[in-house]
Amino acid sequence: MAEEQRVTVGLPDRGYEVRIGEDILREVGPEAAARRLGPHCAILTDENVETLHLDVVVESLQSAGIVTHVVVLPPGEGTKSFAHLEGALRTLVRSGLDRHGFVVALGGGVIGDLGGLVAALFYRGIPCVQVPTTVVAQVDSSVGGKTAIDIPEGKNLVGAFLQPAFVLADTRTLQTLPPRAWAEGFAEIIKHAAIRDPEMLDTVDALEDRNDLVALIARNVAIKARVVEEDELETSGVRAYLNFGHTIGHAIETAAGEGTLLHGEAVSLGMRAELFLSERKCGLPAASTTRVLSSLRRFDLPVVLEAGLDDEAILATMARDKKFEGGQMRFVLLSALGAPQIHREVSLADVRDALAVLREPCGV
Ligand code: NAD
Ligand code: GLY
Repeated sequence: MAEEQRVTVGLPDRGYEVRIGEDILREVGPEAAARRLGPHCAILTDENVETLHLDVVVESLQSAGIVTHVVVLPPGEGTKSFAHLEGALRTLVRSGLDRHGFVVALGGGVIGDLGGLVAALFYRGIPCVQVPTTVVAQVDSSVGGKTAIDIPEGKNLVGAFLQPAFVLADTRTLQTLPPRAWAEGFAEIIKHAAIRDPEMLDTVDALEDRNDLVALIARNVAIKARVVEEDELETSGVRAYLNFGHTIGHAIETAAGEGTLLHGEAVSLGMRAELFLSERKCGLPAASTTRVLSSLRRFDLPVVLEAGLDDEAILATMARDKKFEGGQMRFVLLSALGAPQIHREVSLADVRDALAVLREPCGV
């Protein structure tokens, strides 16, 4: 069994540890108790994760002397809504949780984002422990403190920053992920490689199964942690580098409609479009685009936009996206793999051209 790794997110007064290991779910209770997070907690999870991984977490917390309340939500992006936020908060009040309690968000990015926001709002803020169970959540969403729900006008438009008390990523939980959910996480890993660690593409390509993931997950957590340390609240622009592939990807995801594309699948399409823009605007060598596309294809991630989703729907969604600043589009583009920059001179015509390229076969 691979040895557990720990990555520290070094933020003033809000620093925390991310534990990454195989079969470490049962450490959640002792860790929460050691940190004196509170005598009782609410575990937020979804129906899929409840069946697979909830019992171990409940038992671990109860054995550590912590009273547990469980809130099970439906799976899927639709759960990141005002209705479910309100429902969860009211359930917590009725269950007797108070300001001395804490939240455990057990699940993928949906539960992590919603659970984090519940913790940020309940009694004006109680601690949140993130226990991510998808690749996306382990390498990205559980670290960095962004919490959010969606509104009809766009994804993640309502939220708060709340850094977790600690994060516990058990790579064994990834064994039970369905194939699409497993693959979509690699879009975020490949994104990390493209912006910070191009050599990681070789590691990703060499992966044969779901064993021995501790080093890979920890390498990604470290990338995310360093970015968050540099720009916690996304004010200097460094954290915005994590949005590579997301400006167009988010718009495609929203325009396609709920349940059509997974987040990582949309990011994969967005990365192809933004690699094209990087070539045109920043001189990214075409070979670098091919290198990234080849890793995306290795995980069967989509890189060609299906017919049926027209440019106007995507552009209208982009116009509402928060990555617009003062009416100007803001893109993360690469001048080389590992060398991102914020670019504001991307015209509507450039975006239309990128969408046209995205409809062509990729040839990789
Ligand atoms: P998700 O939470 O919907 O999980 C995907 C599916 O896998 C769900 O059906 C879930 O029930 C199931 N599942 C979860 N763990 C499982 C397991 N171990 N075994 C079997 N099934 C399991 O989706 P996701 O891809 O984890 O996260 C996507 C969300 O994360 C989006 O809402 C996105 O906006 C958000 N996100 C947030 C950040 C951030 O910084 N806060 C970063 C990236 C993504
Ligand atoms: N996933 C983007 C961020 O955390 O900033």
